[in-house]
Amino acid sequence: MPKITVLDIYKKKAEGKKITMLTAYDYPTAQIVDQAGIDMILVGDSLGMVVQGVSSTLPVTMDEMIYHTKMVSRATQSSMVVGDMPFLSYQTSASDAVRNAGRFLKEAGAEAVKLEGGSQMAEAIRAIVNAGIPVVAHIGLTPQYVHMMGGFKVQGKNDAAREKILADARAVQDAGAFSVVLEGIPTSLGAEIHKALHIPTIGIGAGPDCDGQVLVIHDVLGLFDRFTPKFVKKYANLKDQALKAVKEYKQEVESGKFPSEEHSFK
Ligand code: KIV
Repeated sequence: MPKITVLDIYKKKAEGKKITMLTAYDYPTAQIVDQAGIDMILVGDSLGMVVQGVSSTLPVTMDEMIYHTKMVSRATQSSMVVGDMPFLSYQTSASDAVRNAGRFLKEAGAEAVKLEGGSQMAEAIRAIVNAGIPVVAHIGLTPQYVHMMGGFKVQGKNDAAREKILADARAVQDAGAFSVVLEGIPTSLGAEIHKALHIPTIGIGAGPDCDGQVLVIHDVLGLFDRFTPKFVKKYANLKDQALKAVKEYKQEVESGKFPSEEHSFK
């Protein structure tokens, strides 16, 4: 199965076909996402919240991102692997941005990186792209800016904020990003940005008009229940199923039902 490239992503947009993206953070989950034919696997810094159990993405480090991206790359035959640049791995300088983006390709087997921020990140995006590394931008509700936003809140709700996000979208496109994640903005703004840009827009809480959609895999599978944003659709409830299985195992060990002859050696 050939790997999906940036050219395939552009082609899908040109043909009006929806682009699919999901997160994964480890080998078995990445295998499932890859085998399902998802176009892009994002090794998101959301792993801080859904895997490490911390309350924001801010503590996640480059070394942790490289560790998880390696596992995902090893499992992936066809999806494009996108490594998410963690907080302070690219904001400090364009040369830090290039060096850290390069680690995702050189050490971890990713084919692209994602970073948060609009106009203020144009220089970093340009530098990374000039080094030959495809970039997915991320604007609107940007979780690494949680303290600036005063919480995880829908962005672009008044005219000035809409104009700023539209300008950010144009800036990341001009800087060379090959696609842009639009998170937590009104549907009408998602549609407006989709219309204004020629690069693919990937929505998460940005309405149905984007070229594609992304969700966190733990939300999709029902494995994360600390909170559920409005934009999440759960397609399974694996936490309940896993809890039931583990309780049954406990009960069978305690009652002597497991292991039976079937699971024992002669
Ligand atoms: O870290 C992440 O998983 C993300 C997606 C939610 C877009 O940035």
